Amino acid sequence: MKRQLAVEKAKELLEKMTTEEKVAQMIQVTYTDGGREEALKWAKMGAGSFLHVLGDDARELQREAMKTRLGIPVIFGIDCIHGHGLNTSATIFPSQLTCACSWNPEVARVMGEVSAREVATDGLHWTFSPVLCLARDTRWGRVNETFGEDPYLAGELGAAIIKGYQGDDLSDDEHILACAKHYLAYGEATGGRDAYDTEVTERKVREVFLPPFQKAVEAGCATIMTAYGFTDGTPLTADRHIMHDILRDELNFDGFVITDWDNTQSLVWLQHIAADISEASVMAASAGNDMIMTTKGFYEGMLNALKEGKVDISVVDEAVLHILTIKYEMELFDKPEKKGEPGCFGKEEHLDAARDAARKSVTLLRNNGMLPLGNGIKKIAVIGENADNVRAQYGDWTYFTHPVPDPTNSRPAHRPYVTLWEGVKEICDQEGIEASYAKGCAVIPKGEDDLEEAVRIAKDADAIIYAVGDVIPQFGEFSDRADLNLSGKQYELFELLKATGKPICTVLISSKPLCMGITAEQADAVVCGFNGGMFAGQALAEAIFGKINPSGRLPISFPHHSGQIPVYYNQMPGWHGGKYNDMPKTPLFAFGEGMGYSAFEYENLTCGSDLQVSVTVKNVGKVEGTETVQIYQNDCVSSVLTPVRRLIAFTQVTLGAGESKEVQIQLKKDDFALINKKCEKVVEPGEFILYAGHSSKEEDLISITIKM
Ligand code: BGC
Repeated sequence: MKRQLAVEKAKELLEKMTTEEKVAQMIQVTYTDGGREEALKWAKMGAGSFLHVLGDDARELQREAMKTRLGIPVIFGIDCIHGHGLNTSATIFPSQLTCACSWNPEVARVMGEVSAREVATDGLHWTFSPVLCLARDTRWGRVNETFGEDPYLAGELGAAIIKGYQGDDLSDDEHILACAKHYLAYGEATGGRDAYDTEVTERKVREVFLPPFQKAVEAGCATIMTAYGFTDGTPLTADRHIMHDILRDELNFDGFVITDWDNTQSLVWLQHIAADISEASVMAASAGNDMIMTTKGFYEGMLNALKEGKVDISVVDEAVLHILTIKYEMELFDKPEKKGEPGCFGKEEHLDAARDAARKSVTLLRNNGMLPLGNGIKKIAVIGENADNVRAQYGDWTYFTHPVPDPTNSRPAHRPYVTLWEGVKEICDQEGIEASYAKGCAVIPKGEDDLEEAVRIAKDADAIIYAVGDVIPQFGEFSDRADLNLSGKQYELFELLKATGKPICTVLISSKPLCMGITAEQADAVVCGFNGGMFAGQALAEAIFGKINPSGRLPISFPHHSGQIPVYYNQMPGWHGGKYNDMPKTPLFAFGEGMGYSAFEYENLTCGSDLQVSVTVKNVGKVEGTETVQIYQNDCVSSVLTPVRRLIAFTQVTLGAGESKEVQIQLKKDDFALINKKCEKVVEPGEFILYAGHSSKEEDLISITIKM
């Protein structure tokens, strides 16, 4: 349904609603709190939405909702973060961070589209994705949920996945609503402590953290979730300036805003800025939250506040209007249930999409010639817990971390995933190579380590593939870490493996950059896999054996040491001593870094007055490969400090061995803007350095000076 008609219909319906019905419409109830009976009670009361309910349970609630006086359908939300992963049958994609290694918006779009189809098939309407927070302090537990550290890359991938989820028409049966979260600057919480104080100014917010959300709004994102944290003493949930003045008035957001989990009640018991639930309800709604996640007390709280004249009904009307407009736009009143495509879980095309995403995300970070493995290799030793740990490979937000009851028992509980060990074994079997596996040591020590067994198979092999990383209790919400060193005996085992004199390829299967230390510095090859989903193991093995030419690039920098954090590339100039305290100022691996079995050279960088950039890229390697051409700028003299380098564009080009191509990229004037002291976005005339190249590292870039 067209937006204008949806607004008119919503207004008509609003006129007919009682105050109780309006307030109930603002509430989202979780099925996991109270179960079926409690949920049915709320459906009868006219709750606007439910979360974390699947399949037949959801259908039953919808039938109840449709029987209410005005027959207003509910909308079901779920955390489909990298696939509809809370359902045991879903296709599991790489995590957002892993997907970002592809630097490929089409990979993100397809991931959204396939996931939407599986969510819709469950009768659900809405995912709380994508996360558009930036991961700059990697001690934070939720780094895996982000598209990395850079506002431009996060915005491009965010807009793409939103288009994948939502399609062109909110009413069609195979697409769902997206929810850009957590608005705003949530990932920047001081010290990497989740949901904590964010020490940022409005100028910095506009420069760094707002742009991905702006792109989400421009992409038509239907909903936005506010963040748990607080900035300058005001919880984001209670911040009218960021929700009304910035989100609605400046960015022209016209969907609806939802709080995060119980983040109305927590204004009382946790953040202590409201004396009781009534005051908190008024705060959250007046600030611009249209839907209240899981705080059922909002119902009484808001009704009491209205009775006592503490808030005007227009606040509630505005919120309900936003919600109903989206419901009409989705044509939910005519077809309350999304149909999706029956039986589409894990269908071949979906699995292929997850496999393709995994392949395009594999990031080779170091190679002294050991890879691709091939000639002369007769025996391989695969070592490490994460080489054969599907939970670690999947990462957060699947049924392993957030089990939700699945009422449709007929579905298979296990999908055809492939671990690294399985992927390597399969190739070895095909090629007549002997392969053996030993866990060696647990990532979190449990007292069952057998380092000797690992060394024994390593000694007997021609090459070692050693998986290091983290495991589920070490990441996710409530799991920030002060120390990003590899846990357990992972370094010690590396030393023992190294002492065998056999070539070692270290594979990182983790939620985020860890301090890899010797396991990277002394390895013959390093491959980053993060949480690659179902087919991570297959994709990593294919890259290691050269069946695919890895093309991933890092969306995030790797620290040498936890004390070196934050180590993101777009830092400000002007610190003392050219070091990070007593650590190097450069990271272990930089933003944009990644290699393959080809190599690329850049020349002839030009930029016309129409801001059309042209650069010649040549594949000087021996095999076809895909290069991500990265464009950065630096403002030479500006009224406020600007970062040493800022990504403003990228594109990919596939070139045969020896082939070269003139790559064209169209820039916009806005790409050279800064946020001045008055918080205005302006392009200050003067000189800019324009860089093009292979990564954010100085030595990987060529540059010219241009005038604006
Ligand atoms: C998280 C959100 C999530 C919500 C619902 C919260 O704790 O911060 O990202 O969407 O729970 O599960």
